[in-house]
Amino acid sequence: MNILGIESSCDETSASVVKDGTSLLSNAVATSLDLHAQFGGVVPEIAARSHIEYITPVIEQALTDANCGWNDIDAIAVTKGAGLGGSLLVGVLSARTLAILKNKPLYGINHVQAHVAAAFLEKAGSIDSSEASAGKAEDSAGRASNRSKPKFPLLALIVSGGHSQIALFKSFYDYELLGQTRDDAVGEAFDKVAKILGLPYPGGPSISKSALSGDPKKYTFPKAKLENPYDFSFSGLKTAVLRTAQAEIGEDYNFPSYKLAERLSEAQKADLSASFQHIAVETLVDKLEKAVQQYSPASVVIAGGVASNQALRKVATERISLPVIYPRPDLCTDNGAMIAIAGYFAHLAKKPAEDPYSLEITPQLSM
Ligand code: KG4
Ligand code: ZN
Repeated sequence: MNILGIESSCDETSASVVKDGTSLLSNAVATSLDLHAQFGGVVPEIAARSHIEYITPVIEQALTDANCGWNDIDAIAVTKGAGLGGSLLVGVLSARTLAILKNKPLYGINHVQAHVAAAFLEKAGSIDSSEASAGKAEDSAGRASNRSKPKFPLLALIVSGGHSQIALFKSFYDYELLGQTRDDAVGEAFDKVAKILGLPYPGGPSISKSALSGDPKKYTFPKAKLENPYDFSFSGLKTAVLRTAQAEIGEDYNFPSYKLAERLSEAQKADLSASFQHIAVETLVDKLEKAVQQYSPASVVIAGGVASNQALRKVATERISLPVIYPRPDLCTDNGAMIAIAGYFAHLAKKPAEDPYSLEITPQLSM
């Protein structure tokens, strides 16, 4: 069964064809990231316009790369939420139109949940990006930590620019949300701290690069304590970095954050990056470790853009008693493949297809 997956929730326009939920036939991605970089974050208007420009060529590319004509496509899956309204509309309206024209079943997919689906691809752990090649394909015990196929019950940590979630999946469509962020997502915290330090957008890769030459113990930042031990809160950590940076240059909290970068030395930026990353990563792994102990899952998956972070992978490998499974590095960030695989799970679960004349976007869709 070949499913065409379409993703347009944020700044990536992507389409992929996945066979039987496990083999990736194509993954075409166009990103408007460079257009947002100068603003230090995604500008929704620009993202939506870029999707309009890219969506048709990206879908055509995905079909060509997969060597598929429309007759070879059995269903279409599209992100219906969560995400930016204008961006989601482009993907959903394109998918609806194609489902009607080509007479294909249509599945509306939850983007956050779909990040976990990316771990189900064959060769999910193949290491092929430069960031990932700095890491290990095997954990310290020599187990092939990234290469096995996830099994249910599955514990997932989903960490991206928009979401921080821990969920226990009995099957793909039967899960319990154990906790989520009360304020900023962890990727958002990386992006905001990078902005404070004058490091380029997106903040995740630039903080982790800067942190390589910094001291993770230089500053002691707080870990948020919350009523639900599986919930997250990262806005206090971001503010602590801001206050420490102000104090480092001898200014008080009135000093404007946009002027900080020019006053901080490269060494100070590296130490702030490393100390921030250290606490952010520890916070994530503390909760994951606790959940592994409490729920004894068969597999653990870390997915979403922040799953590329090498410090997170190292600490998770050291502290989690099961091998941790990651999506392929290029499929940690947003992509159509994860949407296609989630569509395949919908087919397996015998979920009814959507009405292509009425499928709506759900920007605030939660898990
Ligand atoms: O999953 P994704 O592409 O989009 C959302 O669904 O949000 O995640 C993007 C996020 C950004 O916040 C980016 O800074 C973060 O993932 N990210 C990282 C790394 N690479 C990307 N965060 C930490 N370390 C990284 N290496
Ligand atoms: Zn995402």
